[in-house]
Amino acid sequence: MPSVVTSTNRPYQLVIFGASGFTGQFVVEEVARTASEGPNGSLKWAVAGRSRQKLEKILEQAAGALSKPELRTEVDIIVADVGEPDSLAAMCKQAVIVLNCVGPYRFYGEPVLKASVENGAHHIDLCGEPQFLESMQLNYDSSAADKNVYIIGSCGFDSIPADMGVLFTRDQFKGTLTSVESFLTVETGPDGGCIHDGTWQSAVYGFADGPKLQSLRRKFNHKPLPVVGSKLKRRGSLFYSNEILQYTVPFMGSDPSVVKRTQRYLVEQQDATQVQYGAYAGVGGVGNVIKLMFVGIMFWFMVKFSFGRNLLIKYPEIFSGGVFSKAGPTRKQMEGSSFKMAFYGEGHTEGQDPHGKPNGKIRTVVQGPEAGYVATPIVMVQAALTMLNESSALPKKGGVYTPGAAFAKTTLINRLNNHGIQFSVL
Ligand SMILES: NC(=O)c1ccc[n+]([C@@H]2O[C@H](COP(=O)([O-])OP(=O)(O)OC[C@H]3O[C@@H](n4cnc5c(N)ncnc54)[C@H](OP(=O)(O)O)[C@@H]3O)[C@@H](O)[C@H]2O)c1
Repeated sequence: MPSVVTSTNRPYQLVIFGASGFTGQFVVEEVARTASEGPNGSLKWAVAGRSRQKLEKILEQAAGALSKPELRTEVDIIVADVGEPDSLAAMCKQAVIVLNCVGPYRFYGEPVLKASVENGAHHIDLCGEPQFLESMQLNYDSSAADKNVYIIGSCGFDSIPADMGVLFTRDQFKGTLTSVESFLTVETGPDGGCIHDGTWQSAVYGFADGPKLQSLRRKFNHKPLPVVGSKLKRRGSLFYSNEILQYTVPFMGSDPSVVKRTQRYLVEQQDATQVQYGAYAGVGGVGNVIKLMFVGIMFWFMVKFSFGRNLLIKYPEIFSGGVFSKAGPTRKQMEGSSFKMAFYGEGHTEGQDPHGKPNGKIRTVVQGPEAGYVATPIVMVQAALTMLNESSALPKKGGVYTPGAAFAKTTLINRLNNHGIQFSVL
């Protein structure tokens, strides 16, 4: 039986670690907003981080933003530092689930994940770094399974909309879906928008370390998954998409890695048909393409050298062309922003020869509010609430899972629909 402990033998059902970070502060607000959705209509939760003072400030800020003065006094604070294993162990012993918002995960993630496994706390993170996610699967899957602990990575905008979006498309298709391409577009309001420095740092170090990913993947010794239908062709590095009517590039985040891992799990564990996947992101018109090329070439060159990386980290605004900033977006910018991920799938309709050419198509969409700090906290908190409320729908034993592998049989998509992240068929 799955062992998501929901009884009272741990003081907190959720502990938000890194609650004082840019993303963490909004996760705190989202937990406070949805506490009544916990098992039995309530939630016991605490905030954690390395500075009590900062955590007190975050609770005060959340109390003001949500008009819930009780947050100042009723939410407990746990002081824990990634560099102090005993403090992590003490934190994990008190939690049913740790919501880990401390990144870049390549630097800070492993001690927290290890402490979670060793001390029997389930672990949900916001990691969008394939190298970290895959190496944690390689190194901790069996110990997590032994302890019946669920480690579910990439539970933010990276990569729940993509991963659950592919499963939604598969489930809505009348027949056997064989491939999907997703196209992401992001809208900002009159005040514009940007992404916080924390994600920029993760991207800079992730690209610098990119070549190591191939050798890591070889260690899994995976056989290629069987392809049903036509092999999905990869598009070019820049093309005009007739789907979203703008110039488009391959999506550089964790979505392809996460979706592929989910598909492998479903094929190997549940005898499913692989849904091949390609992920793309819209760039806009010619002006944006020129800007992207300029920024991209500079980034690609600088990220290879430590001197270049230091400059990238020091001046995110300059080197990302304003896409990333140390201050992060303002609340007004967040209110004006939204995302849309359109899925174009094809497959064999019911009764068709599965060896022939796919004869059916489907279009679905996942759309919602600002991706990084509005949608991400919603998605992370709903993932946690799904674990707490629907433990019997999770895989039978613990381990390191992608969101799709963990939540395929739960009502996570319905929960997200009810919280402003809409999955629909077009
Ligand atoms: N999946 C997604 O779509 C998504 C969306 C948003 C963010 N993210 C990821 O979330 C992560 C955080 O991003 P962010 O922008 O929120 O970054 P951030 O503002 O820099 O937050 C980092 C957090 O880590 C804490 N921290 C750093 N070193 C620590 C240590 N030794 N011990 C304990 N805590 C420590 C910081 O604590 P202090 O406050 O004390 O400095 C802070 O709370 C990044 O990896 C980012 O890529 C993912």
